[in-house]
Amino acid sequence: MRTLIHLSDLHFGRVDPALIAPLTALAARLAPDVVVVSGDLTQRARSAEFRAARAFLDGLPGPQIVVPGNHDVPLYNVAARFLTPLHKYRRHVCDDLSPEYIDDEIAVLGINTARSLTFKDGRVNHAQIDRVRARLDGLGPGRTKVIVTHHPFDLPQHFGESKLVDRAPAAMDMFAACGVDLLLAGHLHASHAGNTAARYQIGGYAALMVQAGTATSTRGRGESNSFNVLRIGAGHIVVERYSWDEGGAGFGLVGAESFGREGGVWAGHPLP
Ligand SMILES: [Fe+2]
Ligand SMILES: [Fe+2]
Repeated sequence: MRTLIHLSDLHFGRVDPALIAPLTALAARLAPDVVVVSGDLTQRARSAEFRAARAFLDGLPGPQIVVPGNHDVPLYNVAARFLTPLHKYRRHVCDDLSPEYIDDEIAVLGINTARSLTFKDGRVNHAQIDRVRARLDGLGPGRTKVIVTHHPFDLPQHFGESKLVDRAPAAMDMFAACGVDLLLAGHLHASHAGNTAARYQIGGYAALMVQAGTATSTRGRGESNSFNVLRIGAGHIVVERYSWDEGGAGFGLVGAESFGREGGVWAGHPLP
């Protein structure tokens, strides 16, 4: 069993400072095996925002798998946006845009979907798909395989296709071939957990897709600040959601969903 904390959409520059210390303390108490941050660490990709994000990450347990989001690419500085789009991210947060954490139970691979041209939308390219395929093929069976991106590969049906990462179908075909179990993403500031079977009809395959809300930003879009804790066993994953309680001034557990894998298909299971 592995414990993974999934944070997303920190948006330093627009954070609620009251959340930082309680979140940091709770993360330490949860004693995760790995912490995932699925992008949008800053609001406007400013150096001061990246420094604040770096200080926050330094207060969290490790190891950490972090990927950039669209807000980590400069929007208004056009030269920086196109010539050195992730320079500050790489300098302050993580120089590796393909980070990975692998032990004998789980393999967690990050993919950068932030782009200069399609500022808000994200994209995976064929080189990234080929790299992940080669990496996963080399691992062999036995580990729960987890992919981390900022932009989601799947969402509930009421979200349109435009909200999904570009080339998602090609990536999904590779995920099916490699037996990817779990897709972690953010971007929409909305929590969700479910499988990919409704949007992607791939015979004998459905991944578990988990969205995290915004952990610390004031741009909650109607949802309280939240994050997920995933308890990952062999063929079984429990997704716990922690949400900010304004009255109690802390994050509390507000729900848990259980999923199991039969063959290559992940689906909801009653909680044990
Ligand atoms: Fe965001
Ligand atoms: Fe985003």
